[in-house]
Amino acid sequence: MKKIMVFIILLSFIFSLHAQKANTSTVDQDKKMEWWREAKFGMFIHWGPYSILGGVYKGHNQNRGGAEWIMNRCKIPVAEYQQITKGFNPTKYDAEVWVKLAKEAGMKYIVITTKHHDGFAMFKSNASKYNIVDFTVYNKDILDELAKACRKHKMKLGFYYSQAQDWNNPGGSVARKLMREGWPNPDSTRIDAYTEANKGYWDPAQQTATMDEYIDKVSVPQIKELLTNYGDVAVLWWDTPTQMTDAFAEKISAELAKYPQIIQNDRLKRPNFPGDYKTPEGRVPKAEDIEGVDWETCMNIGSSWGFKSWENAWKPTEVLVRNLITIAARGGNYLLNVGPTPEGEIPEPSVTRLKEMGEWMKINGEAIYGTQRSLIFPTWGECIRKDNKNNTILYLCVFEWPSDGKLYFNIDSEVKSATLLQNKKTLNIQKTTDGMIIDVPTKSPDAIASVIKLELKEKLLPLKIVSNSVKTFEILDL
Ligand code: GLC
Repeated sequence: MKKIMVFIILLSFIFSLHAQKANTSTVDQDKKMEWWREAKFGMFIHWGPYSILGGVYKGHNQNRGGAEWIMNRCKIPVAEYQQITKGFNPTKYDAEVWVKLAKEAGMKYIVITTKHHDGFAMFKSNASKYNIVDFTVYNKDILDELAKACRKHKMKLGFYYSQAQDWNNPGGSVARKLMREGWPNPDSTRIDAYTEANKGYWDPAQQTATMDEYIDKVSVPQIKELLTNYGDVAVLWWDTPTQMTDAFAEKISAELAKYPQIIQNDRLKRPNFPGDYKTPEGRVPKAEDIEGVDWETCMNIGSSWGFKSWENAWKPTEVLVRNLITIAARGGNYLLNVGPTPEGEIPEPSVTRLKEMGEWMKINGEAIYGTQRSLIFPTWGECIRKDNKNNTILYLCVFEWPSDGKLYFNIDSEVKSATLLQNKKTLNIQKTTDGMIIDVPTKSPDAIASVIKLELKEKLLPLKIVSNSVKTFEILDL
């Protein structure tokens, strides 16, 4: 009997070791990134109590930066900001509406701020009472509703989490900003002196714990809550590793190691935690700067990540669509941001633009999804590449349409066919000594960008993702 017991204990020990190994096995990087490289286009959502202020404090428009930074830039005392937060009551929030809009725009994943630098958790958290369920009149977990809507509509869901900065929970770090970047506070001199002498803090209530205690009592526990309470998490989007150390990052990485399929960006802690992809912010990088790596441009539709009540710089739809095309042609993803109102609605100018992008994507989406960098740079627009099993397709996205109906394209590959995506019309090709002339209509079928699908007879040589770039992109706190 005793021998059997020993055998059973030994067997269960071996089994548990194997199970543990299976859980933390490293997945093949190409396999891991497959859906993300296919998706190309996602929705970023910056939402929190800062939307109540909308970039305005004591009657002043904050002088610099996104409206989600208002607590820091305007040096709002912790107790005062908490009082504002208590009234957060987004009664018009409907996750289904947001997910359907993202789908209509042609977006394949959503990344939402679960806790931004102000420290407010948009989810039920036992690690800090400063969360939407325990601290506000709203009293509901918005993440839970969004996760359910994403599952229903097969939308990948990722979480932005500010792992280091936290202007409410004591011990969280603070990126120092000067008072002049907020509002003309008559106490500016004293405040700037205080933040300079106190690692950016402006309120003693922020300093009653160490960062070690913050990481152990808030950051890591909340990351665990995010990883376990909302179903499959597709992406973890870290931000501003202010005062982060490798030791702090190791604690967080140990949690993520249990979920090897979760894709992470490069902002947990630089340079030793490069994550899975680079994050150029607010602009489309030069092709040579992102050669060989996975990367994603994050950008807002206006001039602020968080809701700004006085937004006056909405980007035209043409700019947004052409950004998406150029990003795809250079092998990246586009994470386009919306900043919902305190009532829980996406601002109308953003909705209009996303729907117009969706109209373009309905006709031309195949030129974006599942494509890769082409390293071909035509003068009249962009060339995006897609490899099939046996041949390559090039999508010629024309911004400057030739009024003489002759589109010059200088590659020496044999072409099987050329068609206009807009109406599937076959186009005639004249071979030339250094490429070809494609006969096109004299008027561009699409006002933003018309796409010609060029099916080659051969498959072009593969371009490998090497992910060995040492280049990192500045995290902007404009
Ligand atoms: C910068 C901003 C932050 C924003 C992030 C998005 O880090 O400081 O507010 O969430 O960019 O990329």
